[in-house]
Amino acid sequence: MSNPGSKPLDDFQRQEDQRTAQLEEQLQSLQAEIQNLKSVMEDMRGYIKRLEEERERSLAYPHIEAVILDVLPNGNYVVKSSTGPNFLVVSSPELNKEQLKPGTRVALNQRGSTIVDVLPPSQDVFVRLMEVEERPNVSFSDVAGLDEQISLIREVVELPLQKPELFREMGIEPPKAVLLYGPPGCGKTLLARAVASETKATFISLVGTELVQKYVGEGARLTRELFELAKKKSPSIVFIDEIDAVAGKRVDASLSGEREVQRTMMQLLAEIDGFDPLGNVKIIGATNRVDILDPALLRPGRFDRLIEIPLPNKAGRREILQLYLRKVRAEGVDPGVVADMTEGMSGADLRDLVTEAGMTAIRNDRKVIASRDIMTALEVVKRRKQRMQDVGYIRRT
Ligand SMILES: Nc1ncnc2c1ncn2[C@@H]1O[C@H](COP(=O)(O)OP(=O)(O)OP(=O)(O)O)[C@@H](O)[C@H]1O
Ligand SMILES: [Mg+2]
Repeated sequence: MSNPGSKPLDDFQRQEDQRTAQLEEQLQSLQAEIQNLKSVMEDMRGYIKRLEEERERSLAYPHIEAVILDVLPNGNYVVKSSTGPNFLVVSSPELNKEQLKPGTRVALNQRGSTIVDVLPPSQDVFVRLMEVEERPNVSFSDVAGLDEQISLIREVVELPLQKPELFREMGIEPPKAVLLYGPPGCGKTLLARAVASETKATFISLVGTELVQKYVGEGARLTRELFELAKKKSPSIVFIDEIDAVAGKRVDASLSGEREVQRTMMQLLAEIDGFDPLGNVKIIGATNRVDILDPALLRPGRFDRLIEIPLPNKAGRREILQLYLRKVRAEGVDPGVVADMTEGMSGADLRDLVTEAGMTAIRNDRKVIASRDIMTALEVVKRRKQRMQDVGYIRRT
């Protein structure tokens, strides 16, 4: 069969095939390019990530606090570091140069070579570091299972604050400072806040680790200001949590970090020694690690009253459970039975247990906690605690 039109058609077909082949080639090369760009992008992402990490590292504490003394024509800065010496430094490019004037407080990176941050005037640091609560909203009835400890602390903190004349007439000096010690989550902070609230004292709290880690070079000065503030706001209770960070036994006083901690502790001891036991400032310290405290801190006239806040025993656990079960809707839950099953748990764990049981009830569309919810929650809380222990969140004391 002959078809006169077949030749042009064949040609057309050939052309089409050629065109398709060309396009396919183009497509392939474009795809290769996309692939290429993707891998460039991947590389760039990695690069950005590395830069971000580097930036974060350089911004991570501890920093050296310094004050700018002079801005040199070449754009460098002369700064006086809070640890003593003057440094010639540069500034990190992302900082606003306008802000970097003589007198500005800045943070240097760890090596002390670069200004990495502009710090607020020192008063702000102070306010950020310390929490001042005029009257904490906690009472002794919120603290369960610690009756003995409550009466001890009332005797050494509340009584001298409220009735100093009793001591004056008797001619004895009440203790200035008490130390609460024991494992985490058993009510040290809670008890300290309750005392402040019940005595109508201002509660000024700060955390030892923050004092030494975040404000390198400022610990001693902040300690001094802390006590000034306490006197100004008296009657007041100064609460130093994690006091072991400031007052641990010296490991190596030749390290500059250690020297800094030592200076802070010296200042703390000087402040305690310097104030009047009959004045209306009392100090409460708290620690998980009484074993590592410097004995100098525990000498007579300083933290000479130690109150242990231990893990609750069975009766204590029952009281804590009762306290938290009263705040929720529960039916048929016997705190005594639950106390039997929660050996080794802290007050914080028991509070979590009740919360978790509430969640379980809600998940199952019930409005009241039943004893099976407690059982489910117990497994959850135990597992959570184990995990925390495995990753080292809970310090074993
Ligand atoms: N004895 C208790 N009575 C009532 N609640 C408690 C008790 N112990 C702990 N809790 C609950 O656990 C929370 C944490 O306790 P708290 O902060 O007082 O522990 P802590 O002993 O200071 O622990 P850390 O050593 O970790 O600072 C409290 O806010 C409270 O809800
Ligand atoms: Mg605490």
